[in-house]
Order: sequence, then C-alpha cells, then structure tokens
Amino acid sequence: MENKIFYPNKEISKNALIKNMCEYQDLMDEAKEDYEGFWDRFAKEKIDWFEPYTKVLDESNAPFYKWFIDGKLNVTYQCLDRHLNKRKNKAAIIWEGELGEKRVLTYLDLYYEVNKTANLLKNQFGIKKGDRVVIYMPMIPEAAIAMLACARIGAIHSVVFGGFSAEALRDRIIDAEAKLIITADGAFRRGKPYLLKPVVDEALKEGCECVEKVLVVERNQEEINYEEGRDYLYNELIKTESKYCEPEIMDSEDPLFLLYTSGSTGKPKGVQHSQAGYILWAQMTMEWVFDLKENDTYWCTADIGWITGHTYIVYGPLAAGATTIMYEGVPVYPDAGRWWRMIEEHKVNQFYTAPTAIRLLHKAGEKEPLKYDLSSLRVLGTVGEPINPDAWMWYYETIGGGKCPIVDTWWQTETGGHMISPLPGATPIKPGSATFPLPGIMAEIIDTKGNPTPKGEKGYLCITKPWPSMIRTIWNAPERFKKSYFSTCTKDGKPVYFSGDGAMYDEDGYIFITGRVDDVINVSGHRIGTAEIESVIGHHPNVAEVAVVGKPHEIKGESIFAYIVLKGEDTKAEEMQMVQEINEMLVKDIGAIAKCDEIKFVPGLPKTRSGKIMRRILRAIAKGEEIKQDTSTLEDPTIVQKIQSCML
Ligand code: PRX
Repeated sequence: MENKIFYPNKEISKNALIKNMCEYQDLMDEAKEDYEGFWDRFAKEKIDWFEPYTKVLDESNAPFYKWFIDGKLNVTYQCLDRHLNKRKNKAAIIWEGELGEKRVLTYLDLYYEVNKTANLLKNQFGIKKGDRVVIYMPMIPEAAIAMLACARIGAIHSVVFGGFSAEALRDRIIDAEAKLIITADGAFRRGKPYLLKPVVDEALKEGCECVEKVLVVERNQEEINYEEGRDYLYNELIKTESKYCEPEIMDSEDPLFLLYTSGSTGKPKGVQHSQAGYILWAQMTMEWVFDLKENDTYWCTADIGWITGHTYIVYGPLAAGATTIMYEGVPVYPDAGRWWRMIEEHKVNQFYTAPTAIRLLHKAGEKEPLKYDLSSLRVLGTVGEPINPDAWMWYYETIGGGKCPIVDTWWQTETGGHMISPLPGATPIKPGSATFPLPGIMAEIIDTKGNPTPKGEKGYLCITKPWPSMIRTIWNAPERFKKSYFSTCTKDGKPVYFSGDGAMYDEDGYIFITGRVDDVINVSGHRIGTAEIESVIGHHPNVAEVAVVGKPHEIKGESIFAYIVLKGEDTKAEEMQMVQEINEMLVKDIGAIAKCDEIKFVPGLPKTRSGKIMRRILRAIAKGEEIKQDTSTLEDPTIVQKIQSCML
C-alpha cells in the first residue's frame, strides 16, 4: 500500500504553476547552481519593496543568517494595499461562527479594519515599532486583524493559542515583555460559550508588570470583569479611528512575530520570524503547494494560535491575494458533517487540515461526507504529523473523490512555511510520504556528519542551507537557538539546521517522516515537550520521580503516558485521587492539551548507571512491546519487569 503511486490529475497539471517533475527539477537545479540568484529572482518578482535590498544573503554571522539586506517593506502592504487595484471587492476572509453566523470581509474591508486597528494601537495605546503585543483570541476575524495591525505599525505580535491556561499565557507574556494584550470576552465551542478574558485576568495577577493595557473584542457578550484604566473595549474605541495608517517602513530583518513552541528541554521557546523572508516564502508556497487560482476559495482549518494559522490562514493567503475561510469552532458541531457542509456551501477548492481531524471524522461519520457535494475540491492538504495510509485513502477517495492530489506538507514553527511537500500538478504521490523538498529547499536526511542516509534507513532530517523564512533566533536566548538547532549535525564541517525529526528515503527516494527523535510528543499535531509536562507533575508533593513518553493513539497520533514513582507507600485509592490532581495541575499550568491519557504508578524508572532515564524502554513498555534492548546495563536490571507488571 505504502508504495502505491498516485499520479497527478491531468486537468490540474495542465494549469498548474509547476506542471511536471521536469519543471520541478529545473527549479531545483536553478537553486543548486546559483542559490542566491534563485532567491533573488523570486524576491524581486513577488515582493513590493519600498526600497530594494543590497544583498540577498548574509552568512557572516552563521547561524544567525540574514536575508535581503537593507530591503525595506511592510508585510501588510504586501497582504493588503497592493491588492486594492485589482481585488478590492474580492473576499479576503470568509468567516463562519460555530453557531452559523457569517461575515465576509473584502480586501477593502480588511484594509480599513487593519488600518483602523493599527491607528488605535498607535494613537490610543502608544504602541511603537518593536513593542510586543500578545494576542490571545478565538478564531474570529479580529484575530487576523490584530496580527496585521501589529505588522502595520511594526509591533511584534505573539499569538498565544486560546486553549493555553493562564499560567502558560503568563509565561509567554513575561518572556516577551508584552506591553499590550489583545483578547476577546469569549467565543463558542461545541455550541457553548467559553470565556477568554478571565484567563487573561488570572494571568495578569502576577509578574506581568510589563503589560499596560488590555484590549477586549466583544464576541459573545458574556458578563466579564473590566479593570478601570487597564481594560478597554475594542468595539467602542475602533469607532473613532481613521481608515488609513501609514505603513511603518520595516527592514527585511526586523522581527515580524514571535510564536512560542515546545522544545525537548526547558520552557517553550519564542521562535522569532522576520519580515521579508517569511512573507516571501509564505506567498510562494501558498501559490505552489495549493495550486492557487484567482477565483479559488481556500480553507485551512488550523487555529490562528499555531504556525499553520499564521502562515496559511493569514499571511500566505493574503499575500497571494486569495480568499481564505476562517471557522470558529470544532469539526463536529452540530454534527460530524459540519466541515463537509461548509465545503459544499462555500465551494471550497483547497482544503487543508490535520491527520488527527481526518481520523476523527473518518471514525465519527463514514456516511456524513456522502451527504454533501464536495466536487468543488481540487487540492487536499495535511499537516502536523504523519498520516496513516488508512486515513490517507479515506481522505483521497471519500473526500477528494479520487481526483484531488493530497499535499502532505512537512514543516515546523521554525521553518515558517512548507519545506517538503508534493506539488499538486507535478508530484506523483505516495500515501504517508511528504515526497520531496520544495524547490529552493535543501532538505536532506543525513547522519550527524552530513553523509546521506542509505535508502530504507532512518536518519536526521536537516535543512543544509539557510532559507528565507527560517527562524532567526529564539527570543532572548540566542545560545539556546544555536544549541537547539545547530549543534547536532554538520555538513562539510559546517553546522546545519536539524529539525528534531527522523526520516527515511524509500527505494524511490521519497521522504517518509518517522517522527521526533527528541523528547517532544506530537499530540493531535501539536508539539508538547515531555520536560514541560514532567516539570508540572514533579511539583505534586507526593511525586518522587516522573518520566513522560508518547504512545501511539488511534485519533491523536500520540497520547501522553506518564510513569510516576511516588514518595511513600501508596494505595489504590490514593492513586485514583492523584491521577485527578495531576491532570488538574496540567490543565492549570499548561492547558487541556497537556492532560495525560494514562498514568502508571511504578516502583522505579529504568536508568543507566549514570542516571539517564531510558525512555526508549518506557516507550516500548507503554506500547506493550517486547523489550529488545539490553537491560543488563541498567542500574537496576529487574526494574523493567517490575514496571511491566504494573501495566496489567
Ligand atoms: O514532527 C514534525 C511534525 O510536526 C512537527 C512540527 O510541529 P509544529 O512546529 O507545531 O508545526 C506543526 C505545523 C507545521 C515536526 O517537527 N510534522 C509536521 N508536519 C508533518 C509532521 N510530521 C509528519 N508529516 C508531516 N507532514
């Protein structure tokens, strides 16, 4: 099955930007022969510069690479102003609330809203270029407007996913030293209102002296607390603002945004992206990977709180002049046909979602999609985790009617945009493979010394040349940036970017991602560091030791499995109580996504004599697999059996 090849549909190939593998190879060769020339060509063609750059790439301070030196631009000019000639009345954002409400913002509407909001931030709140603004919002158009308003005036936004808890929000506010929080009273989820503003209030109770103001968008008109002098109502203040705000002249390398993501150690990292390189690649991949046409309606179901929402709901589609759908709620409200109904109604052409959602909807409603006309679909996409062949086939046949290529896009918060993906008109696809690197992207599977990994063997997935939309640094932590990404692999003696993922070439050279090789778990396409979870659990007064691993899960891809060693003797009743307490702590400190699916109380952990926990053994035990590893080198070789008996 995994080796079955599906060739591109001729209709798509005929009109695609990249029509066949020869054209793909030509682009790749162009990049290999003259790397800077390749990027220079696209940067000139795609970006409306205020002032041209003087140099394409500066590698002098590697790995702190710089792109398009001295170039001046504004990302919102690229996303809005320049479209007004041709597309002012074209829908930019089509929004659907969970309860069925609809809003359409044309490019002109969005331009006005962004300008007004930018004026509000600048004139009423004194936000300036370089200030950090935390956006803690539900999926409503104002979330995109807030991001773009920041970009308009050169403020750096840091969007925090609305499912994160007050503590997680607080950590991110403090690390970024945010001056302003933009939030909403609440939103709707599974048909019920939920509140966001109280989470902000809670976060601001401690250590957030940097925050001067909170701007609240009214979404669900719930009764909420307003603190005089700190909290302001967006819907009132916006009324008096003018419709034009001069775009701030930004340097190519000025930061555009921070987005916090989990690593294998310590607290989440503030991944910093730049202006020009990011927007260039967001636009190029939007056009190439989704085969975007002028009249298309494109829908990405991600949340704005993740990188997919940033690049492929807001910046990519708008830079490319597309119509992008934004949906507030869950896929199963009021029933598992919700998304398919929306595809029919909006005549969606490109649909981009996560394998976890595909598995959920496959399981929830085999018959649901058959009730709707999905014939408008042309390209299907997946992101966030490997897709299993079963889910792939269902997506391909039942949703795509056997005629839509599936673009399995591999990328990361740090890469800014797609890195490895099929091109819908060119690439023959294989279920479960992200296929080949995109033109210009030097993605390779290598060993730590840069030697290519033989076909069929696992290696490290690296990007061996800098690319425009790459992470620039970790906010406030340049050493951590170097250590996290540039200390594992080298090529030709030079450190190269290591993604943290393992991967493998098959016999035809197709890339299959095998998953993280570090201590990061991928739950429903979201990264969570085991260290973050362990640090929360470790604070429980009865916990002596804890180790967390990922375990394969039918819907979520991976689930969170914790092994806990208690301080004293325990009883079954205490264990049940503790499971509840630990999950409450995780929800409070991180958010519901960090809840453990399984917790096992064990007498000890498998450690080497130097005290290192052997997670590989713990992962195998969680899966119920036989332990193939030599356990005689463990500090206590009998521990494996003891742990296994606790699984029963
Ligand atoms: O392990 C890879 C997995 O998701 C990680 C990146 O997570 P994040 O930064 O949260 O971004 C998710 C959305 C881009 C990667 O290190 N991943 C992402 N896409 C794929 C994938 N694994 C397999 N196949 C993919 N297409």
